Amino acid sequence: MASDVPAYIPRLYGRRQDKPLKPRQTRLMETLLPRIAVPDPEKGPIDLKALFPDTEEIWLEVGFGGGEHLAWQAAHNREAGLIGAEPFVNGVGKLLAQIDDEGLRNVRIHFGDARPLLEALPQGALSRLFVLHPDPWPKKRHFKRRMISPWFFLEAARLLRPGGELRVASDIPDYIRWTLMHAQNAPSFEWTARRAADWKTRPADWPQTRYEAKSLKEGRHPAYLVFRRK
Ligand SMILES: C[S@@+](CC[C@H](N)C(=O)[O-])C[C@H]1O[C@@H](n2cnc3c(N)ncnc32)[C@H](O)[C@@H]1O
Repeated sequence: MASDVPAYIPRLYGRRQDKPLKPRQTRLMETLLPRIAVPDPEKGPIDLKALFPDTEEIWLEVGFGGGEHLAWQAAHNREAGLIGAEPFVNGVGKLLAQIDDEGLRNVRIHFGDARPLLEALPQGALSRLFVLHPDPWPKKRHFKRRMISPWFFLEAARLLRPGGELRVASDIPDYIRWTLMHAQNAPSFEWTARRAADWKTRPADWPQTRYEAKSLKEGRHPAYLVFRRK
């Protein structure tokens, strides 16, 4: 990491749990999660060949929430390996249930903060990186908690292969501007949009998340930002 780019604050501020898990989700946390968990990134670099022995394309979703987008991508792209990182236990429980229901064999889960995981992955590890509706942290004094940051763009540049894609969604105008501003300062990325419809319309291979459905119902308009690793 370049020395002039501040590191992230190694603390998680969002909620980790709301209601108790359903009995089935508790059972899957005990049985399925240990089988598909990513090794602890705090213990050293992650060996992707051990995680996905026969997979060339690895995609990662940061903060998958209820896991709808990740499960859809895994079901529609069985040749790709998908890693999801999420510290919210109810979200992990929901994704485990979808993996179990749909027999998805190409998903691995990091139950925790995505940021140490990003740092533990090897250079050029990823073909796609998704950050969908990251927590907005609207107060100025909380901006340093935001996932999108100079640190994040540097890590994304290190991890994505040339031609790889970073997808960011947000329905908060200030966060959309914030993301575009940081992208503009990231010389390894180009924003693929040529006209407004390109970022105002959700691409067909980008399923709706739970958060997005709620946002549309409440009259907000998400932006679908796609950046290509040069
Ligand atoms: C507003 S929700 C959006 C969830 C989902 N992407 C969606 O669109 O429905 C933001 C999510 O990011 C997760 N999150 C926050 N900080 C994170 C971090 N450091 N690493 C991974 N996930 C994080 C939260 O737990 C939460 O589930």
